[in-house]
Amino acid sequence: MALIIDDYLLEEIKDRVDLIDFIGEYVDLKKSGSNYMGLCPFHNEKTPSFSVSPSKGIFHCFGCGAGGDQITFAMKIENLNFIEAVKFLADRAQIEIKEKETTSYDKKIVDEKEKCYQANKDTALFYLNNLRRNKIAYSYLTKRGIDPETIKNYGLGFAENSWDGLYKYLKNKGYKDEELYNYNLISKSKNGNYIDRFRNRIIFPIIDTNKRVIGFGGRVIDDSMPKYLNTKDTIVFNKGRHLYNLNIIANESKERKIILVEGYMDVISLYKSGINYSVASLGTSLTLDQAGLIKRYADDVYICYDSDDAGVNATKRAIDILISKDIHPKIISLPDRLDPDDYIKKYGKLSFELEIKNAISYIDYKILKIKENYNIESAEGLSNFTSEIAKVLSRIKNPIEMDVYVSKIAKDYQISKESILSYIKSLNINKNKKELKKQAVSKKRVIKKASEKIFTSKRKRAEDYLIRFCMDAEENYRYAQKFISSYEFSDTRNRIIFENLDDLYKQIDSSKDLIDKITNDRGIEIEKLEDLLSIDIDKLNFSDIKDELILTIKDENLKTRRIQILEEIKSIESTRQTESTKTEINYLLKELDEINKKIQSF
Ligand code: UTP
Ligand code: MN
Repeated sequence: MALIIDDYLLEEIKDRVDLIDFIGEYVDLKKSGSNYMGLCPFHNEKTPSFSVSPSKGIFHCFGCGAGGDQITFAMKIENLNFIEAVKFLADRAQIEIKEKETTSYDKKIVDEKEKCYQANKDTALFYLNNLRRNKIAYSYLTKRGIDPETIKNYGLGFAENSWDGLYKYLKNKGYKDEELYNYNLISKSKNGNYIDRFRNRIIFPIIDTNKRVIGFGGRVIDDSMPKYLNTKDTIVFNKGRHLYNLNIIANESKERKIILVEGYMDVISLYKSGINYSVASLGTSLTLDQAGLIKRYADDVYICYDSDDAGVNATKRAIDILISKDIHPKIISLPDRLDPDDYIKKYGKLSFELEIKNAISYIDYKILKIKENYNIESAEGLSNFTSEIAKVLSRIKNPIEMDVYVSKIAKDYQISKESILSYIKSLNINKNKKELKKQAVSKKRVIKKASEKIFTSKRKRAEDYLIRFCMDAEENYRYAQKFISSYEFSDTRNRIIFENLDDLYKQIDSSKDLIDKITNDRGIEIEKLEDLLSIDIDKLNFSDIKDELILTIKDENLKTRRIQILEEIKSIESTRQTESTKTEINYLLKELDEINKKIQSF
């Protein structure tokens, strides 16, 4: 058995174990500027040379050179190895670590990811060199006010107007078609040829906090559509879990501040004028994961989206997402429908910093927006306005803050404080009713889940029978192997057995020895095999049912994928529609169509 320790778990640990709190339990820390200092626990000293930086998320001792993050600290101070330290911290943060049997499958994924990072890096360098040579592309950027240093810092590049420049280049380096296609560096044309995904576009590499290139954004240099194209999700890239520029925030920014903007160009323009702490969500509306990342790097969060209608709606949504992560953002509203890029070019850094200073609290922003919708001169308008405002105020947890706002609104709009408070009270009563309703709904869900179990058991039964037959005779296994791969099994145990059978059959003389081998060599406990071994297959004929078993498994997999696709489409549709989301939905619909055809053909 092994723990599933992946990037997400490590991120979550760092997210949930506060560095200062944690180290503070072992070392007496004193605040010094933006850092904390104390006596190093790893060597003897009388004057503090041990420093902890909350913004960077690391500790460092100037005396003995020890340094690292929460995990390194736990390893050193508690004398643990890496895995033990991860367990120790996860335990502390009450994060459940899943366990699973290690398989060669894990190693495959790690290797595959490595390869994808490498391909992305090669691609970024290719685009970078293109940009140096291409006058039109270079002057496009210069005209937009981006200087050579910024181009270099962001690794900007250019995809030539060619169908297969990148494709040929990477093929020459030894990459396979299928790999490049999976990494979303190339696409398939209508007539089935592989072509470059990005053509005639300025390229913005998307880099993670570990400084690896995980994907790309590409902007046209003319009026073609879509204006921006982004890498679709790949083995190393999930756009809802990354933010553009977070790498710079993690490695360069000294502020515990983040400004959330809409686009690549906003981030870069701000950077050029000396404001390096903005981030852009990658062509989607802000996700909860992204809000979590923001929280890790910032105490003060500002939203500075475009001031068009779409921008205002996106701001409202982002406020709600951030609040659910306990971040209370401030809102910067730029004048004249300018985006940060336009604004900073027109008015400069000092003015922008003034806008940051004048940012209003999210509550004030919401109140302003509500006011735009009502005519508070009329009695009815004022009453509706008050009830809307009460909804916003009722969500404020801190009673003092709530009182400040209630008083302010009472004064500004000449409404009595009591009437606002009574609105809020009536909302809370309704809320309780809603809670009760919610509980009833969740009970129903439990019942539904149970019925899903019965539904899924058909698949599990098919899997178990197939595995049972494969363990019974090598020829059965050899037949199944032709049509099905281990990853198509949903049950981990079955997956491992199926994966190992190839090797095991080569080592044994009779299938009777198989069980011994599986339990001894492959570490699957005998109890875990009990239900399999109790399947009575004596009266069954493998040839009669083999195809049905295989098809049932495949069919169920397709059905699961179909549900996933429908959910993906729904979630994309709930975000802001752009050309690229339309393309994405089209791709998903195509896949859905293919799946439906396959299911019908069974
Ligand atoms: P905008 O359309 O506001 O563009 O899209 P912009 O940032 O002002 O860009 P310039 O100044 O015209 O170059 C904002 C962000 O939305 C995503 C991109 O991430 C972009 O930076 N987007 C936009 C897409 O993903 N696809 C699109 O077709 C358009
Ligand atoms: Mn712009």
